[in-house]
Amino acid sequence: MEVEMAIIGGTGFYQPEIMEGTEELVIDTKYGEAVLQVGYYRDRKLAFLARHGRHHGIPPHKINYRANIAALQKIGVKRVLATTAVGSLRKDLLPGELVIIDQFIDFTKFRYHTFYDGEGGTVVHTDFTEPYCRQSREQLKLVMEEREITFTYGGTYICTEGPRYETPAEIRAFAGWGADVVGMTNVPEATLAREAGLCYANLALVTNLAAGLSPDLLTHKEVVDIVNDNINIIRELFMETLRSMPEERTCLCWYKEDFSLG
Ligand code: HPA
Repeated sequence: MEVEMAIIGGTGFYQPEIMEGTEELVIDTKYGEAVLQVGYYRDRKLAFLARHGRHHGIPPHKINYRANIAALQKIGVKRVLATTAVGSLRKDLLPGELVIIDQFIDFTKFRYHTFYDGEGGTVVHTDFTEPYCRQSREQLKLVMEEREITFTYGGTYICTEGPRYETPAEIRAFAGWGADVVGMTNVPEATLAREAGLCYANLALVTNLAAGLSPDLLTHKEVVDIVNDNINIIRELFMETLRSMPEERTCLCWYKEDFSLG
């Protein structure tokens, strides 16, 4: 079965909903199992993966990122759109706003972050000059412009280990490094996707001002509430972006397309 496109849903995004004929698949990979839902949107066959599990039972540092990406590659996926809930490091970027991320900073600590673990004496250093697929970002931008949705095109995501939120001192340091938003899941997801030759873009939804910028303590509930308010539009944007994406991949994400993860 070939399913060429996938959505990875973050916090609050557990159901594909507007897909039809959905079936659940458990895909076995050499890194473990991944649970996917596969169905149709219009004429396109899509896979949906809930990053935190279908009931938000998997914390960011326990997600099996390698199994998830390997499973998508195994069923034929070439393009992935992912959502992430993020805290904002900028007072001009407020809860409810959307950012098409174009850079990341990796501040994670204890994750399996590569498919190239030196097996068979192979050492691979992957280029990350452009960490997110240009063609996917541009298509998403086009669809958002057509619908007159306000968004920021380009932004730097800093990924922390979690599951705790950051201290205000960390947030001040991260802002000084040039980060715009903070989350706990986009690395290694984005890096593994690139290693696997998948096109990958990340639409970040600002759910709160980051620690120290927010007048209140941070809670998971406020994150989920903002996601709930925006989930329908994100779902529709993703479906439309994948549906309207040109068949031909004009980016460079695929340059190791024949690399199989088993
Ligand atoms: N920090 C880290 N992860 C997050 C945040 C935050 O403020 N908001 C949503 N995910």
